Order: sequence, then C-alpha cells, then structure tokens
Amino acid sequence: MRLIDVLVHKKSLTPCPIWMMRQAGRYLPEYKEVRKNYDDFMQFCFSSEDVVKVTLQPVERFPLDAAIIFSDILVIPHILGQRVWFEPDHGPKLEKIDFNAFLKTAPLISFKTMLASVADAIAKTRATLDPTKALIGFAGAPWTVLSYMISSGKTADFNTVLHFAKQNTDIFSRLLALIEEKVAELLCLHISAGANAVQIFESWAIAVPPKLRNLYLYAPLKRIIHSVRKEYPSVPIIYYARGVSSDYKNLRDLDIAFGIDETADITKLRAELPHAVLQGNLSPQKLLNGDFDTDVDHILKSMQGTPHIFNLGHGINKDTPIAHVERMIKRIQKIYS
Ligand code: CP3
Repeated sequence: MRLIDVLVHKKSLTPCPIWMMRQAGRYLPEYKEVRKNYDDFMQFCFSSEDVVKVTLQPVERFPLDAAIIFSDILVIPHILGQRVWFEPDHGPKLEKIDFNAFLKTAPLISFKTMLASVADAIAKTRATLDPTKALIGFAGAPWTVLSYMISSGKTADFNTVLHFAKQNTDIFSRLLALIEEKVAELLCLHISAGANAVQIFESWAIAVPPKLRNLYLYAPLKRIIHSVRKEYPSVPIIYYARGVSSDYKNLRDLDIAFGIDETADITKLRAELPHAVLQGNLSPQKLLNGDFDTDVDHILKSMQGTPHIFNLGHGINKDTPIAHVERMIKRIQKIYS
C-alpha cells in the first residue's frame, strides 16, 4: 500500500499518495443519491451497507490511494446518549443535556455493541477495497468533540466552551477524560475491524489559547496515542489539528504523521520537521475556484524527496466541481511523469 509505505516506512514516493479529507461527501452526485434515502444523518452513519457504498465511491471515481470510512466525529456523543442531528445548512445540532447525569450513564454504554454496524462496514470495505489502497479510520480529538457537545453544535466563537471549562473545572476535566478514553476505544475498534491507519481530527484546535493547549490538546493526544499503541504498536496515526501547526515541532517525538491546514507555511514546517510525514495544505477554496495549479506545484516542490501525502488543508467543499478534482490529481501525477 502506497499510503502505508509513506506512513510506516517514511518513503518518499513519486507521485506521492493522494486522498482528500471529506472525500466521501456532497460534491459527489452518487453520494447525494444515497444520502437522499436518509432524513437522519446519524442513521445513515450506522447503515452498514450504505456506509460501505459511499466509502468506496471516491476511490472508484478517482485514482486515490486511500478510502476513509464514512462516519462522523459526532458518533461518540450520539452513542453515549447526547442526541445529534443535522439541519440543512446549519451544521450539527446536539441535544442540551445535564452533563452530571451524562457522566454517570455514558461510561456504562458498550461501544462494541453500539458500533457493531460500523465495525461490520469497515470489515466489508476492507474486503472489497483494492489491496493496494489503504483504509483510514478516524475520530475527533477530545477538545473538538467536547466543544460540539458543550455548545450544542457549531459555535462562531469558543468563549462559551472556554467559559464552561473555567466555571465547571471538575465536570470539564471528567468529560475530557471520558471522551479521551472513548476516542482511544473508537480508534482501536476501527483498527481491529480493518483500518490500516487512523486520523485524529482536532478541527477546533485554534480556539484553545496557547497556555491551555497542553492540558486540552496535547496531553490527551499523548494518552490516546499511548492507549492505541499498547494494542496496535505499529499502526500509523495522523494528527490533524487546524491552526496550530507551529506547535507540531514540539510533538516530533511522538512518531506520528501531521495533517496541515491551508494557512500553514509548509516550507517552514518541513524545515522544522525534516523527517516527519506531512499531509495536506492545499486550500479547499482554491480547489473549488479552480485556481490551484501554482499551489499544487509549490506543495510538491517543498515536499520533494521527503515523506509526503497529498491532501487538502481541510474538507473538500460541497460545491467543488468534479473536473477540478480530476485536474488536481492529473497535475500531481503529470509533474512526475
Ligand atoms: O469522507 C470522509 O472524510 C469521511 C467521513 C467524514 C464525515 N465527517 C462525513 C460527513 C469525516 C472524516 C468527518 C469528520 C468531521 N465531522 C469533522 C472533522 C473534520 C472537519 O471537517 O473539520 C467535523 C468537525 C465533523 C462534524 C460535522 N459533521 C460537521 C461540522 C458537519 C456539517 C458539515 C456541513 O458542511 O454541513 C458534519 C456532517 C457531515 N459529516 C457530512 C459528511 C459527508 C455532510 C452532511 C450530509 O451529507 O448531509
């Protein structure tokens, strides 16, 4: 598997492996066709057969090197008892709950039972997927998941969450510890079902003030990595934390790959982390607009001869033309041919 050659063996491949964050999603007409059958997005996430189908759609359409299992980072609160739903154009909504009561009931819930259909979908996807392509499992990181849980959905700023954390130190630290444990459990479940690598999404890392980052982001991350590696010592882990890539140099001893958003200076990052696997950086907005050629060339030039995975800086926009994705992939391959 080309992706694993880079992630595990730190090879520099030409052309480099390619996948896209949110590659299974609404920019694909065939995804929308399946999505139509569900009013409830969460129910879709637990429908094994359709999960397999939409996970495979992008790799069937494009010459990508990996599939990422179709699911969501909000599956964790949902199965722990905080209902999650999606309203069109409003992003996720989460039920307002009493966290004291939640902390009593949530630890009793069995992930293995609740996630049987997800494990089944992963096993079936792995069995169907071209053996040269990797299957990626994933979870949201605790701070990001908890932000959605506390703010009951997408917030414009994180003052509410930071305020809650300050006012309810005990509940917040117990919630963080619980989600941390569940994230590790979910990643292990994905790996045991057949995922070849896992990615941890800390999409709202930027909202944490620098002096709290160790407590809220990096200490939980280290414990999650430790738990996962205790079970699966050699599984590759990709850490994608939006807006804080200047901290990655301090995490170099963790032996993980780093996902980079579109605001990062990748030349600088490569200099700071000469041996680490780096992934990402192309602006989804530019992929949408079509003015991405120079950036693709710049990324490839900066990463030349080093372990690199081509990806976007964030999830692909739902209005991205298919032709732009095709052109991006051709450009990456052509530069090397
Ligand atoms: O293809 C893949 O990447 C795999 C599936 C995947 C989804 N969500 C499916 C999805 C993955 C890896 C995610 C991760 C996720 N979910 C993150 C982290 C990555 C990021 O984008 O920062 C976050 C923050 C979420 C929470 C979430 N789920 C949001 C904010 C939304 C709404 C997005 C929107 O544009 O409306 C979702 C819903 C969601 N998850 C969709 C998909 C394909 C779109 C909803 C739909 O089909 O109706």
